[in-house]
Amino acid sequence: MANNIEKICVVGLGYIGLPTAALLANRGFQIHGVDVVQSTVDTINAGKIHIVEPELDVFVQSAVNSGRLKADTKPDYADIFIIAVPTPFHEGHVPNVDYVKSATEAISPFVKPGNIVILESTSPVGTTHMVADVLKENGVDTSKVHVAHCPERVLPGRIMLELVQNDRIVGGLTPEATEETAEFYESFVNGTVLRTDAKTAEMAKLTENSFRDVNIAFANELSILCDKFGINVWELIELANRHPRVNILQPGAGVGGHCIAVDPWFIVDAGGKEAKLIRTARERNDYKSEWVIKKIEEKMAELEKTKGSPVTVACMGLAFKPDIDDLRESPALYITQRLAAGHDTIVAIEPNIPLDTDIPQKLKIDNPSFHLMDIFDAIEEADLLVFLVAHKQFRHLDVSDLNFLDFCGVTNKKQR
Ligand SMILES: NC(=O)c1ccc[n+]([C@@H]2O[C@H](COP(=O)([O-])OP(=O)(O)OC[C@H]3O[C@@H](n4cnc5c(N)ncnc54)[C@H](O)[C@@H]3O)[C@@H](O)[C@H]2O)c1
Repeated sequence: MANNIEKICVVGLGYIGLPTAALLANRGFQIHGVDVVQSTVDTINAGKIHIVEPELDVFVQSAVNSGRLKADTKPDYADIFIIAVPTPFHEGHVPNVDYVKSATEAISPFVKPGNIVILESTSPVGTTHMVADVLKENGVDTSKVHVAHCPERVLPGRIMLELVQNDRIVGGLTPEATEETAEFYESFVNGTVLRTDAKTAEMAKLTENSFRDVNIAFANELSILCDKFGINVWELIELANRHPRVNILQPGAGVGGHCIAVDPWFIVDAGGKEAKLIRTARERNDYKSEWVIKKIEEKMAELEKTKGSPVTVACMGLAFKPDIDDLRESPALYITQRLAAGHDTIVAIEPNIPLDTDIPQKLKIDNPSFHLMDIFDAIEEADLLVFLVAHKQFRHLDVSDLNFLDFCGVTNKKQR
């Protein structure tokens, strides 16, 4: 094993921690996986998985069968500790590093001189230093422990592949920490392992997601301007992108997911007035969802006048991006919920979620006033279709004779 590393303790067994633990176990390391949720621990120890990700089941089953992956609610002694716990935000977009803090406290009694502690969670600048401080407060001699940040940048749906193929950025609190940690990643990553310091590594991950957010905000602003000017934004972007040095992203109903819609706030929170463009982009992307709601309600009012009674609206798509079932921070879900709060004629079509799904349970919300409907029933029954997510099931629908609004370009037709 790399640098005599035999045992690794992975803390947090979610979308990042579990694939990492299973991959490393299959590469011959002894893995002690830790999660605070007992049912997650039990599922993994039974060789099964609690999240949806291609190929992960095969990796976990073989890791558990080989005896090299064991899950527990408590950490254990190891050569390396990897922290992969959530980093959401509190009210008011203030970063919440409480999970990182409690994971660090939990490993402290088991961290020995010579160990490496790696923070993989997407983190505000300075969090790796905080990890070292928490270790120190809990009696660890941090002058003899290597602490580093290595942000994860995998794409859900391709995690098992990208864990190995992607380039990685490693930033330690000391040059030795950077080197030791980088050598460990080089033992299983095929991409290039790039060395820097901890703060730059933290900022690099936040920058990647902010870059996407700012560029989507540009596309979203164009879509609002094009609506005002009577121009088809999809055609406009296609034309402008024929310039050899222009590459405009696609507009949508907002920006969602647990990364792009969240991480830029970590920069804004710390950067204050100096993070003006990044804050504005975040606000523009959130505003796009409000604008979509306004457009839908205007169209509903217009159709209601002709019909003489309330119109049924089918919200096409609930997920935060095409062809997945993930509803975290989803603008489409937000728009549907907002519409359903004011109208009892809203139905939702989400081909990636089974029709008999218990929506309140899945969404952890009380009694939403919309229900799931099949695509073709919706086309038959709804007075207005509003396309919110460009799922592949919507791509070839012939809606030319129907009332529809397309906020994600899936019908790719001119509409005013
Ligand atoms: N999912 C992605 O695609 C992705 C991509 C890049 C980076 N990230 C980042 O990776 C980090 C983890 O994200 P995720 O998607 O794996 O989250 P997740 O919610 O899927 O998993 C986190 C796990 O940590 C567990 N946990 C929470 N506190 C704990 C503690 N103190 N000790 C042990 N376990 C604890 C939770 O029970 C959960 O199972 C976040 O910072 C996220 O932003 C995620």
